[in-house]
Amino acid sequence: MSSQPEVAVGSAKQRVEARLKVTGRAPFTADHGTAHGLEEVAHAVIVDSSVGRGRITSIDTTEADAVPGVVRVISHANAPTLPYDDNAGRSLNPPGERLRVFQDDRVLFFGQPVAVVVADTLEAAQHAARLVEVRYDAEDPVTDLGAAPADEPVRYSRGDAEEALGSAPVRLDLTYRLARNHHNPMEPHATVARWEGDRLTVWDKTQWVGDGTQRELSTVFGLPREQVRVISPYLGGAFGSALRCWPHVTIAALAARETGRPVKLVLTRRQLYTGTGFRPAYEYRLRIGADRHGRVLATDHDIRSETSSYETFTEAVTAPGQTLYRTPHVRQAYRTVPLDVNTPTWMRGPGFASGVHVLETALDELAHELGIDPIELRRRNEPEQDEVSGLPFSTRRLLECYAVGAREFGWAERNPTPGSTRDGNWLVGIGTASAVCETGRSAARASVQLRVDGTALVQSATSDMGPGTYTSMTQIAADELGVDLDDVVFRLGDSDLPPAPSHSGSKTTASVGSAVLDGARQVRQKAVELAVADTRSPLYGADPADVVVAHGVLRSRNDPARRDSYRALIGRNGRSRLEAIGAYVPPTGQSHSMSAYGAVFAEVGVDSALGLVRIRRMLAVYDVGRIINPLLADSQAVGGMVGGIGMALLERTVTDHRDGRIVNANLADYLVPVSADVHDLRAIFLDGRDDHADPLGVKGLGEVVQVGVAPAIANAVFHATGRRVRELPITVEALL
Ligand code: MOS
Repeated sequence: MSSQPEVAVGSAKQRVEARLKVTGRAPFTADHGTAHGLEEVAHAVIVDSSVGRGRITSIDTTEADAVPGVVRVISHANAPTLPYDDNAGRSLNPPGERLRVFQDDRVLFFGQPVAVVVADTLEAAQHAARLVEVRYDAEDPVTDLGAAPADEPVRYSRGDAEEALGSAPVRLDLTYRLARNHHNPMEPHATVARWEGDRLTVWDKTQWVGDGTQRELSTVFGLPREQVRVISPYLGGAFGSALRCWPHVTIAALAARETGRPVKLVLTRRQLYTGTGFRPAYEYRLRIGADRHGRVLATDHDIRSETSSYETFTEAVTAPGQTLYRTPHVRQAYRTVPLDVNTPTWMRGPGFASGVHVLETALDELAHELGIDPIELRRRNEPEQDEVSGLPFSTRRLLECYAVGAREFGWAERNPTPGSTRDGNWLVGIGTASAVCETGRSAARASVQLRVDGTALVQSATSDMGPGTYTSMTQIAADELGVDLDDVVFRLGDSDLPPAPSHSGSKTTASVGSAVLDGARQVRQKAVELAVADTRSPLYGADPADVVVAHGVLRSRNDPARRDSYRALIGRNGRSRLEAIGAYVPPTGQSHSMSAYGAVFAEVGVDSALGLVRIRRMLAVYDVGRIINPLLADSQAVGGMVGGIGMALLERTVTDHRDGRIVNANLADYLVPVSADVHDLRAIFLDGRDDHADPLGVKGLGEVVQVGVAPAIANAVFHATGRRVRELPITVEALL
């Protein structure tokens, strides 16, 4: 079958849902239940624990019950036992036992849900929630990563790192501390739940309607999967926070079942900090041994990160140290430290953002120590293959990223001496760092329907938390079908649709996109076969391989006068549509090691008197395979850089270790970059594709763009000031 012309793919299309969003007509989760016929919706407000650990001794709801409009107060004192039947599978839950809502009197962290008030109005529920009188037998919580004992480590080693470190001519022993970060998406997490008999429908903010939220709810309530439907068409950001089905989703569904009413539950900004997850804090000791030419001989990684007392959360923090550079001897010990906190979760660039920060700052330290240019140092440590698997890289153009970036950013004009460049009161520095993130792919399906009016409906139970899935899938389908972009509608975010993997790990385009590609190809082939076998078609008897489709018109390549159209063809044959289920299944057994790469450059100014850091400009050059939509890719990259600026300079969740309370659980005190913090951010994507990765040739870019940003900034701060801050965020206090 002939290959199709590329029209939409590769072009900078605006988001197909942009108008809906800017006109307020895209229904986000909390919009449901008001405009969608659920007039009887009741409102739920969660009561959180005000101690960091202990037991609930009593719950007095007398005053709360008396508030007009209050329907019910539910807590462990009156909640039914829920099945929590793990036979349905674990979804994305880490090892351990998930927090079971209202099943006992234990308090495991400050802010844990201990009751929910359901009322006719939000105001009544909020008021009554304050009147619920909870008494505790409180204990002292342990929330300080530095002061608590760790679990047994997960270890990795190759070679003999201890021996090699002992004999290395150059040695560095560095300890880094990375703050806890919270996702803080614009849209708060919310759930609307409705029961019809023993069937549950939830509108929920989720990055995984199917094997995530649907499966978790079926597990919790002991229902067959098909009795739970999860709907989530639009997300106002997530960054990983909506990957798990958190306790409040269960609470909303429970409240709806107990009251016999549809229930809406929206977490407050404060509740997002303990009601979902976070990027865990790290203490990371890295020892490096190198020769005088800057070739790394050995690394030893001692990593501690926080987890909860009830689940063990780990992420890919060890991966960069294993594969980013040629390193004959590596030893790693990765220890989780159980604390009286809620469980951490994935946050953009999970594991990689933290691990790469340490590695890339340490390499900058090594470069400075040896007087070698930081980019040259990386060139000297370029691996020939993946040193863990022994596999060749599918594509690895990291050094090309550096070459392009150095040229475009003006790296050659940089005076290598720290503290040597001034602009008035500002010390100016330039730093660079690598970015890397593994390429992910998972099985996915998509249905494609080509209708008699010539339009197509393409559907998959994936999600779009912001990267532009609606648009990229529309582009892929349009080209493969040979129809105009406006003639394709892509639907997602409904567990009734064909299954898709979690919208995470930079794998949506590779996985769902490949399924869309397959489904569209099947439908086009059906149409072409129908035409060449149709005696009434001008294409009757043509070679199917000779037929191309554009703008819904099928035509013979050799004889363009012979043409038919989807509309005429389908109508003439008495069909209402042609359809197929597209599928993508990643190959078993990897032939190549696949990752997305980038080189990030930052120029900062540091106020010599005040220690203020300002980002003057940034550039990142990426090797992420093929770009489906340059506009969306650019917006991903800029968003990742903004997230990285936050990680480097601003974001830090602060806990009061006396009672386990997060003291800055709001957007006034938890700082994120605003427009004034963000100036000249530029991204370049290397041309090309990765044919080993997936049928589309993409390597994924949503995660890698937040990796390498913080170390580029930290290295620029060092270059500006000569001050090495091994703590994130880099604060004014550390620079004074
Ligand atoms: Mo991404 S942290 O896998 O949503």
